[in-house]
Amino acid sequence: MDRVTSLRDLRQKVLSWRRKGLKIGLVPTMGSLHTGHLSLVKHAKSRADKVVVSVFVNPLQFEDKTDLLAYPRTLEADIKKLSSVNCDMAFTPDVDTIYPNGMKGQSKVTVPTIGERLCGHYRPGHFEGVATIVSKLFNMVAPDSAVFGEKDYQQLLLIKKLTQDLNMPIEIIASETYREQSGLAMSSRNQYLSSDERMIAAGIYQMLQTVKLQLHQSEQSYTELCTEAKQVLKERGFAPEYVEICRESDLMPANHQDKALRIMMAVKLGETRLIDNIACHLD
Ligand code: PAF
Repeated sequence: MDRVTSLRDLRQKVLSWRRKGLKIGLVPTMGSLHTGHLSLVKHAKSRADKVVVSVFVNPLQFEDKTDLLAYPRTLEADIKKLSSVNCDMAFTPDVDTIYPNGMKGQSKVTVPTIGERLCGHYRPGHFEGVATIVSKLFNMVAPDSAVFGEKDYQQLLLIKKLTQDLNMPIEIIASETYREQSGLAMSSRNQYLSSDERMIAAGIYQMLQTVKLQLHQSEQSYTELCTEAKQVLKERGFAPEYVEICRESDLMPANHQDKALRIMMAVKLGETRLIDNIACHLD
């Protein structure tokens, strides 16, 4: 596996693959890699000849600087993990390579509507930071495809929209959420949880499944279902930010005519913010 830190080396290597007619896949990450990330790399490998994984903790998407400083950084362990799944290149730039003129004067990418709701509401500026770094990585690597996890479903739709809106010829591939045995969605943030909190956190997936069952069985309004779910989450020790039943296609609030739904949830457990979602298809 090649390990590349500069833009020049990245472009040279990618160009040599392109000249051989090889298809290139990209998996953008912020490192602190776990089994879920490795499943994204395997997915990318099944759809491309060469896979680049970027490891970059993007300061532009952290509205809370304490959160940025605390974000786990495990680069050497990440490199070993990437080699073990036959990743072809780890691109590990530093902040100056990505933002040579600093972040204040950086042109930004804004994705309207979808970036404003749900997590966008609770983390102002976050999705602008995500859309900007992903656009930059797309321009740097120029991949044929890129893989993103469904755990960050809002991010996935936002990136699909930005590639369409900006005519980027890149296929965005969704990869299923990878879960621990308890049902807890794998996330780099899970390592902030104490062992007690980790057990409680399994309740997020249970609650998503409860709401899904109710959607199939009950006549209650969506607002009532979500209010009840938030109440139960509070009783179980969470501080819920949102529980919403959305249209799967654009994450706008669903109504009773919509059949393809996504149940979206964000909670805080102690100091740790956790998000998850599941699909619910009514017939
Ligand atoms: O999902 C993430 O880890 C990040 O938001 C991403 C897509 C790598 C952009 O920094």
